[in-house]
Amino acid sequence: MVDQPVRIDLGSEIFSADVLQPSVGNRGFDVRKLRPETGYVSFDPGFANTAIARSAVTYIDGAAGQLLYRGYAIEDIASNCSFLEVSFLLLYGSLPNAGELLLWENDVSRHTMLNEEMRSFFDAFPRRAHPMAVLASATYAISTFYDVYRRPTREQEIDAGARTLIAKMPTVAAWAYKKSIGEPYVYPNNEFSYVENFLHMMFSRPTEITPIDPAIVKALNVLLILHADHEMNCSTATVRSVGSSRASMFASVAAGMGALWGPLHGGANQAVIEQLQAIHDDPDATIESTIARAKDRNDEFRLMGFGHRVYTNYDPRAKVLASFAQDVLDRMSIEDPLLDIARDLEAAALADDYFAERKLFPNVDFYSGIIFRALGFPQRMFTVLFSIGRLPGWIAHWVEMNNDPETRIMRPRQIYTGETERAYVPIEDR
Ligand code: ACO
Repeated sequence: MVDQPVRIDLGSEIFSADVLQPSVGNRGFDVRKLRPETGYVSFDPGFANTAIARSAVTYIDGAAGQLLYRGYAIEDIASNCSFLEVSFLLLYGSLPNAGELLLWENDVSRHTMLNEEMRSFFDAFPRRAHPMAVLASATYAISTFYDVYRRPTREQEIDAGARTLIAKMPTVAAWAYKKSIGEPYVYPNNEFSYVENFLHMMFSRPTEITPIDPAIVKALNVLLILHADHEMNCSTATVRSVGSSRASMFASVAAGMGALWGPLHGGANQAVIEQLQAIHDDPDATIESTIARAKDRNDEFRLMGFGHRVYTNYDPRAKVLASFAQDVLDRMSIEDPLLDIARDLEAAALADDYFAERKLFPNVDFYSGIIFRALGFPQRMFTVLFSIGRLPGWIAHWVEMNNDPETRIMRPRQIYTGETERAYVPIEDR
């Protein structure tokens, strides 16, 4: 069935907008001609109600708490796939068969090494540098070794860019960590799987190989998959925005990392642990006082790991992680008092009218930090782990945007509220 155009009554005229049909989810209406035909612009801070593209990568039903990657339920994908398999799915649209997966894994593992000159790049940063700053800088730095300053256009170049980023990011992340603790960098080893290799570079030393615990590999694999894509979130919209100027994939992804680092987005996973730790350590920061501060309109403070632009129900990723956290802790024989605090905080928030009325539920960041901690990662690496996970999603969107004939440079409008034209006043007369 084709919907009738949407009619917007502007008083003196009617604007007629064609309806855009999704395969599932919200319909849209096309306002591209609104300003040229009527002089009006639509006002939508934060793009809360604006579709910036048609996309076939990921679908979210926020009210039902449903998340699909290329049509597959996140719960299925997380319990059955490897992270590289999911990367292939996001990038190329379908799950790889056994031969395709083997080729992809080999291809990625053969590109995990950094150019040796990148060592001096890491050496140049101070030890206290936040690994997210190093990660984003290194993403640019890697591009200098390939002379990719513009958008690649040939399919082969695009594939090579995607593979380079996905293959090298764990090496960059592990080296940023090694630098921060003053240990020598550990080189990748192609004997290992993607996740094993990352753990090896993080926790082994040149003098001593740390055995890799299959339980940790499995847990990290699930975590990376849960973070792999989330349609038009802030960092992905940033990647698309930067890429829309025909900037390179590397420049676009580095910009996405900057967006992800913010505490309202991927930086929330670090902030959640800091909040839970404060409740644990500080007698004045109780669960009650934390909830009260989060509700106080005069306080900027928010309950980190709670709330979401799209979900008005439990985030399905958080649902997986809530039970997975206990599982991982049990399997590793770890008792973490922060998990109990997180559970109590969640129960107190869900029972509170403020959170119920606003439909605020735990999001992916609420429990992920507890698991990252249990796996041995320091807090400052949490958003880096999120970045490694989100990388295939960013690239899939960058590629989709580049192939989309409807793409235009991202350039929003404004409602101007400043001074109208006024005469210049010489400095001696001001
Ligand atoms: N704590 C307290 N109040 C909150 C929270 C929170 N975590 N989240 C939203 N609210 C309140 C707002 O104050 C607002 O109240 P009001 O209607 O009385 O003004 C209402 O809920 C709606 O919130 P908005 O900020 O308008 O929602 P928006 O969609 O713009 O923001 C966001 C979503 C940024 C995720 C927000 O919920 C938040 O700041 N959460 C905490 C940070 C966080 O966990 N971020 C990670 C998100 S998941 C991810 O990016 C990977």
